[in-house]
Amino acid sequence: MNTIEDIKKGRLPGHLAIIMDGNGRWAKERGKLRVFGHQNGVEAVRQTVETAAKLGIGHLTLYAFSTENWKRPKLEVDTLMRLLVTSLRKELKTLNENNISLNAIGRVDTLPEKALKELREVIRKTSENDGMTLTLALSYGSRDEITTAVKAIASKVKNSIISPEIIDESIINDHLYTRNLPDVDLLIRTSGEYRISNFLLWQIAYAELYFTDVFWPDFSEQHLLEALKSYQNRERRFGKISEQLN
Ligand code: FPP
Repeated sequence: MNTIEDIKKGRLPGHLAIIMDGNGRWAKERGKLRVFGHQNGVEAVRQTVETAAKLGIGHLTLYAFSTENWKRPKLEVDTLMRLLVTSLRKELKTLNENNISLNAIGRVDTLPEKALKELREVIRKTSENDGMTLTLALSYGSRDEITTAVKAIASKVKNSIISPEIIDESIINDHLYTRNLPDVDLLIRTSGEYRISNFLLWQIAYAELYFTDVFWPDFSEQHLLEALKSYQNRERRFGKISEQLN
């Protein structure tokens, strides 16, 4: 069993991203509707956010709703939107107590008005916090993000604001939703699926990947600590060889 004290503070991922998967299967295993899984997934979100902030992780990004998730049955989409509103409302106080600022990436303007209003309000009311940044990926798709960035850059070239020669990785980065976030250091996916599912494709170029069979509603502090221990035992070479590090 790991404790928070077992995690080396000097070797935390600066940016932890999580694909929270398995809510539907978790519910099905219990003979319940898929939405029951999402409702129980909220508690895992709460616990993960709190532990990450307590540890001193700078950025936590959660894949809460993808551009493809709009295709799910209406009941499920409506429930997810309602859960978003109620969670934001309920957790504002906790976010402030833990010095967490809320951020969102994706086509957030496509969210229902109520959800968008709540989201904007919590972002505003936590904007002074300078501890962890919690980013919710909402109506997010990485290919959509990259396409949007390419269009914006192309338009600047067309209008002679920039010349094509100066386009480099940092310019592309500056046109992504994540322009204010560092690259992802550790990406966790729950539920035993080994896929990235259109999540932060550009930003995970050098991320360490961690997969666990645990369904999201069961993802506990213990599972997070296990993932962090695994991360801390890895050698990140960024294309170099061991001897060149340090
Ligand atoms: C994936 O499980 C999960 C989602 C699409 C939504 C995640 C949402 C929550 C955890 C609750 C609300 C979040 C916030 C931030 C308040 P799945 O439905 O794809 O599961 P399955 O693969 O077993 O079908």
